[in-house]
Amino acid sequence: MSSDPLDFHGIDYVEFYVSNARQAAHYYRTALGLVPVAYSGLETGVRDRASWLLRKGQVHFLLTSPLGPESAPEISRHIALHGDGVRDIALRVSDARTAYDEALRRGAKSAQEPQEFEDGSGRFVRASIATYGDTVHSFIERQNYRGIFPGFKEIQNPPPAPETGIAAIDHIVGNVELGQMNHWVAFYRDVLGFSQLTHFSDKDISTDYSALMSKVMQNGSGRIKFPINEPAEGKRRSQIEEYLIYYGGPGVQHIALATKDIIATVDALRAAGVDFLRVPETYYEDLPSRIGEIEEDYRELGRRGILVDRDEEGYLLQIFSQPVEDRPTVFYEVIRRHGSKGFGAGNFKALFEALEREQARRGNL
Ligand code: FE2
Repeated sequence: MSSDPLDFHGIDYVEFYVSNARQAAHYYRTALGLVPVAYSGLETGVRDRASWLLRKGQVHFLLTSPLGPESAPEISRHIALHGDGVRDIALRVSDARTAYDEALRRGAKSAQEPQEFEDGSGRFVRASIATYGDTVHSFIERQNYRGIFPGFKEIQNPPPAPETGIAAIDHIVGNVELGQMNHWVAFYRDVLGFSQLTHFSDKDISTDYSALMSKVMQNGSGRIKFPINEPAEGKRRSQIEEYLIYYGGPGVQHIALATKDIIATVDALRAAGVDFLRVPETYYEDLPSRIGEIEEDYRELGRRGILVDRDEEGYLLQIFSQPVEDRPTVFYEVIRRHGSKGFGAGNFKALFEALEREQARRGNL
């Protein structure tokens, strides 16, 4: 394993720009079981935006809305163009200034110069660089900070959230335009010092209608994993193209959430109203012979539409939600790894056929 030139510790938080953060927070609490832990807005002296921070295990989502058409115009513009979507995949570092300077020296474009916040909880530093589309990576330095977020008020008695078992972010996938995948692979390699994990070509993952190419970039510890997809030529419009049209350009396609018990997690999410993609019954017919012995009961997996894939190192279980916006853009994956470090390449065909059935229902195939 290579080391990290920018000294990444992991994903600190994911910030979404949304049109109504209070209501989005309600969804993420009641559907995904994330607990609201901090808030900033008019009541905390912030005039242009409201933000809610939600947490579950290692997962931190920050939901931010502008408070008027003239306030925070970059947020309003982001929402008008993309709908609700991911603005910032923030990475925790030891020293935000050094990481920022080094990233710029390696060719990154600045999105925000280093800002230092000092309050009763200590010192917090943030700086940001641009990545694909309007997405940014903030570098977050907080080892001398005891609070949650500067300028935020902690939420003392949060309303109840269902126990969904979501524990961490496993990976975050970006969709980029045709021909741009290798550009962004080079960006993560040359600027952030990531290395390439796996390569799926359009031969591996194609259906009659659409295909994609995907490369997975990860940091030195393997804790941060960013697959990058681009559309490949197909007979009809690919799912990646559909995303690019409705998102108005490149952006985050899905966030994979890790759990220790995928059956319990899927049951909790489904009970809370989360819709998942269904794979055809036939997917399960030859599965035990293809995958071999696993801890879980195949019938229980089949009942829930959970997919299984195996490689040399072990196996993984995964399932994908429907898009969580009206635009067919962002969706979620729930994943449980039993040794496998892959991304379910063996499931891509069955999965894409399921995705395309949904795309056809939207009249977009
Ligand atoms: Fe994924």
